[in-house]
Amino acid sequence: MSSQHQSQNNSLAARVEAQIEAALSDASLEEKVAMMSGHGFFAAFVEDDRVWGARPYRAGGGCERLELPFFGFSDGPRGVARGESTCFPVAMARGASFDTDLEYRIGEAMSLELRAQDCNLSGAVCVNLLRHPAWGRAQETYGEDSHHLGEMGAALAAGLQVHNVAATVKHFALNSIENSRFYVDVRVSQRVLHELYLPHFKRIIDAGCQTVMSAYNKLNGEYCGQNRELLTDILRKDWGFKGVVHSDWIMGVYQPYGAEAGLDIENPEPVHFGQKLVDAVNDGHISPRVIDQACARIMRVLWTNQQAEDPRDHYPLSLVACEAHRQLALEAAQKSAVLLKNTHTLLPLQAIRKIAVLGQLAVVKNTGDKGSSRVRAPYVVTPLAGLQERFGESNVHFAGSESNLDTAVHNIGDVDLVLIVAGYTADEEGEYIPGDINLGQEAPSADELDARAEAAGDADTQEDTKPQHTQSARGGDRIDLGLPAAQIALIKACTARHNNVLVVIQAGSAVLVDDWIDDAAGLLHVFYAGMEGGKALAQIIAGDVNPSGHLPFTVARKAEDYPFFDREAAVMEYDLWHGYGKFQAQNLQPRFPFGFGLSYTQFEYRALKARTDSRGDITVQVSVRNTGQVAGASVVQVYISPPNAVVKRWPRLLKAFQRVELAANEQQTVHLSIRRESLDYWDEKPGSWRFEAGRYAIEVGQSSDPDTLISCELEL
Ligand code: BGC
Repeated sequence: MSSQHQSQNNSLAARVEAQIEAALSDASLEEKVAMMSGHGFFAAFVEDDRVWGARPYRAGGGCERLELPFFGFSDGPRGVARGESTCFPVAMARGASFDTDLEYRIGEAMSLELRAQDCNLSGAVCVNLLRHPAWGRAQETYGEDSHHLGEMGAALAAGLQVHNVAATVKHFALNSIENSRFYVDVRVSQRVLHELYLPHFKRIIDAGCQTVMSAYNKLNGEYCGQNRELLTDILRKDWGFKGVVHSDWIMGVYQPYGAEAGLDIENPEPVHFGQKLVDAVNDGHISPRVIDQACARIMRVLWTNQQAEDPRDHYPLSLVACEAHRQLALEAAQKSAVLLKNTHTLLPLQAIRKIAVLGQLAVVKNTGDKGSSRVRAPYVVTPLAGLQERFGESNVHFAGSESNLDTAVHNIGDVDLVLIVAGYTADEEGEYIPGDINLGQEAPSADELDARAEAAGDADTQEDTKPQHTQSARGGDRIDLGLPAAQIALIKACTARHNNVLVVIQAGSAVLVDDWIDDAAGLLHVFYAGMEGGKALAQIIAGDVNPSGHLPFTVARKAEDYPFFDREAAVMEYDLWHGYGKFQAQNLQPRFPFGFGLSYTQFEYRALKARTDSRGDITVQVSVRNTGQVAGASVVQVYISPPNAVVKRWPRLLKAFQRVELAANEQQTVHLSIRRESLDYWDEKPGSWRFEAGRYAIEVGQSSDPDTLISCELEL
């Protein structure tokens, strides 16, 4: 930061502090407490015909007399959940890109679209750790590794805040079961909490994220929204967080006591704050200081953002889903698809070829969950539309879906590639809202049902499509980790007839493929790829784009290899073992390891060097060469193996990564750095971080598979 910029910031901070001081002595208790909750949400929702995101939701702050603006909230993470915004691939897809620069640019695009639609608070940064692939909202986060989550989330938050929007990082913390989210008590040891579930939140807060959304669930017996250990001891005292904590939407806090525990705002309405909080202060149960502190934090964020220099003079509506943002959505879809199998270089297709497309999802505008993260894009390119546009309608025909298996298989005809689109929709995985509460979660639209019925090849078959996609019209956690039985039957019927079957999977996290993977020639995991997903898919099949996504999670061979998961559990114990750490520590063979992804070219890694600098931080250097015939991108991953003599830790931990683009035959020396503190473990006895001295292995490669890594050692 330049010294001129620094001094501008200092004088802004001084001005805002003076304003806060004056406001605190001027405002009544009622006015202050009114700042500490959202207002008018349910009335607005009804007024807007229950259209989610029809307006910014008032989520704290706001006092006309003091000229204090309010937080105008909109969700993310796959775009701005308001108006007809750009629909990016879901966060999990972007996690697969391992591209923090892209994530920052997406954040900035969302920031523009938020401002253009009168919002100044974004709920787009979701970094709950993916402990188990059945989690219904897995698509909203980036993956199973804490370091990776922290880097991706920090990039998004920084981008979001470019245009004076406050980013909120959610859901703090340990929210990774959907159906029981309002009541589950997640029990963890201090070590598990500090080593696995919190470092990514700290990383994002250290990067300047201004607000935090508390989680619904309990942590060790207390709701997160009123958990003093989490909201005050850790967040504020240990980490020095100066920003605002607000609750998740409805049922995020249960007593006025939450304010004392560290919650500044109850959203979206004053149920336990409001009058009850005023009474608690008047009755002497809660100190007025608690209220002043919360209001000071709220005013600080709001006035700072309002008065900071604005990067633009105005934010016209034409910024929303503008051409540049659509291109960004396309770039994200291109970079996030993960090629998992490509027998005999099935892909790319060498020239224009005949393709038969199958599967209901080929014709559905499937951008993922329909809960709070839903984005209503102006258009969505389906896989079929994208392929027909790229290869020509005469070369690509839709043969049918799993609902009409025999007809579909019969319709394949004489083609070079059989492409089956399989996976899930919001019915099998997504946000789950029980009972009568409706926050915008919707059943499939009439258009979507029509498209599905058409895919089924029969106007009367809407009902037939139901068994695969209406397990619940309201998402929730998955009940199965494999594909629906009808889709597997379709894959098997096709692979029995044709050698060149490519399966394209749309899903928010890992899908088990062992039932059929040996028969399919190719497998591409595209997640929910956003409004330009179908176009990116076609470009990858054609070879215009070289796939470069890498798995941000482990794909198991069998469900039992993942940790225990119960979507209705009242109590869940989380231990140290999930993801690639569990697979490696317990010698379980994954089907596809964390970090894995194929390319149309090959990369050679050599000349690995690691050294420590004067501060004890580690610098890693490795030479990467593209040894194939086409340009491509590799994701350089650095894993550290601690000595593991004092406590048992993951055998290797991802501590740095970088996406590198290389032309054919190009070589680049890649430098990565690792902070020494990031290698500490949590020592339960004193309750603090500790470094284990000894020999560390530094391993580098294109996935977490130990057999593919090159390594060197370092005495630390
Ligand atoms: C979700 C949050 C979301 C909030 C507001 C809640 O149901 O858990 O992620 O930000 O609604 O839409």
